[in-house]
Amino acid sequence: MQFQNSKNGFLMLDQKMNNPKFTEALSEQWINYASNHSEPIPEILIELERETHQKILQPRMLSGPLQGRLLSLISHLINPVSIIEIGTYTGYATLCLAEGLQEKGIIHTIDSNEELVPIQQHFFNKSAFKCQIKRYLGAAVEVLPELSGPFDLAFIDADKVNYTIYFEMLLPKMKKGGLIISDNVLWSGKVIKKADPKDESTIALQHYNEKLKNDSRVKTVLLPFRDGLTLSWVC
Ligand SMILES: C[S@@+](CC[C@H](N)C(=O)[O-])C[C@H]1O[C@@H](n2cnc3c(N)ncnc32)[C@H](O)[C@@H]1O
Repeated sequence: MQFQNSKNGFLMLDQKMNNPKFTEALSEQWINYASNHSEPIPEILIELERETHQKILQPRMLSGPLQGRLLSLISHLINPVSIIEIGTYTGYATLCLAEGLQEKGIIHTIDSNEELVPIQQHFFNKSAFKCQIKRYLGAAVEVLPELSGPFDLAFIDADKVNYTIYFEMLLPKMKKGGLIISDNVLWSGKVIKKADPKDESTIALQHYNEKLKNDSRVKTVLLPFRDGLTLSWVC
């Protein structure tokens, strides 16, 4: 895209920016550029993404290449002994987060969907982190009390209506100076508008975002990255 230098040119650009198809194509180009100028994606993740798209419902749920690299980088910065992930799906983010673990570190990952177990197991076994991943099948509210922590890093990425419950269950198990990452907090932009009273996920996320902002036990920044990613540092 080129910026126009005539008055009409600016008008045309303005009209284009109001066209959702144009802005969508533009943001896709930006994302491709960003991906191409970030660290290369490990082969196993390329394969996992491909297989998720071919075999699993709702592949959009997967963190994806750019967010995956960010999660890996954050994990490397923290160099955790213990990570907890709520919402494994096909294990893309699990493998990205595992990249930063200490040699004897463990990532615990919870998912309630039994149908995902074969693909999770296949890729976890194939990865370099086979012995460092502990998988739990069940509702996160039931599994979490079994895990004592302390955790250096947490990734909340499951059912949105329970984000506040997950946060409150996790916080006492977090190390001081640990980090809680919450995904999808912008919920395709729905959180910025008045929510439909029947839309429980949007309402829950609006409350969650407000709560984190006002919670003095953490320092929080909401990044408008992908579908919204909140970083909450445990004080
Ligand atoms: C957005 S996906 C997770 C994506 C994954 N973290 C990634 O980045 O690739 C959400 C997952 O949460 C799981 N889930 C939903 N409700 C849950 C619950 N109550 N307890 C545990 N897992 C749940 C779903 O089965 C789904 O696999």
